[in-house]
Amino acid sequence: MATSTMADGLFFFRRFLGNPREVGALCPSTRHLAAAMVRDLALRPGDVVLEYGVGTGSFTPTIAALVAAVPGARYLGIEREPGFCERLRARFPQLDFANDQVENVASLLAARGLPAPRAILSGLPLILLPTMREIVTEAERVLQPGGEFRTFSYLQSWPTSGAFRLRRLLRETFADTSRSALVLRNFPPAWVLRGQKARGAAAHRLA
Ligand SMILES: C[S@@+](CC[C@H](N)C(=O)[O-])C[C@H]1O[C@@H](n2cnc3c(N)ncnc32)[C@H](O)[C@@H]1O
Repeated sequence: MATSTMADGLFFFRRFLGNPREVGALCPSTRHLAAAMVRDLALRPGDVVLEYGVGTGSFTPTIAALVAAVPGARYLGIEREPGFCERLRARFPQLDFANDQVENVASLLAARGLPAPRAILSGLPLILLPTMREIVTEAERVLQPGGEFRTFSYLQSWPTSGAFRLRRLLRETFADTSRSALVLRNFPPAWVLRGQKARGAAAHRLA
């Protein structure tokens, strides 16, 4: 919790108690997992990076620093909980947060006139969400050719059927998949899972 304040941690925990399925974790991820989420992500000028399920923003400073280093690159965070969104807007006034569901990603991009994203970095508890398949296939559809979807999987849930379904879905959906080394300095420890859209895929046209 090094990048979050204690108040953020408590706020997060209270939201978890109120809605365990959608919050999906007892406490925010660490900066070590955040670093693994963006490792080797090469951005080009004008690229768009999306963050899914931003929560209290434990990945956000790491992603924002990467985006700020590239001319014209842009960030959009999507978070469905109004309370989290309000705190995110106060903490990161320079960033754009949509208080919406990631299932609506195509219309959120179109409304802002944003091009197909280079990367979608997800903090969603995907294996607990009934729309996991829709979220992953829609992410692949809106990404630019060669773009990447990244998520993480906790150590203790790795052998569960939900985590197995997620890994199979990533393999079925993306041209290439891989995973990071286990990030031990996170509670619980986690692997980053990565899916890359085919470089030769047709570019998605926004409505
Ligand atoms: C485990 S928290 C992740 C927080 C942070 N990224 C981290 O890793 O510490 C998951 C977040 O996803 C949000 N969420 C769940 N389903 C969502 C959906 N369909 N669209 C947008 N946000 C969603 C929840 O409100 C919650 O804030």
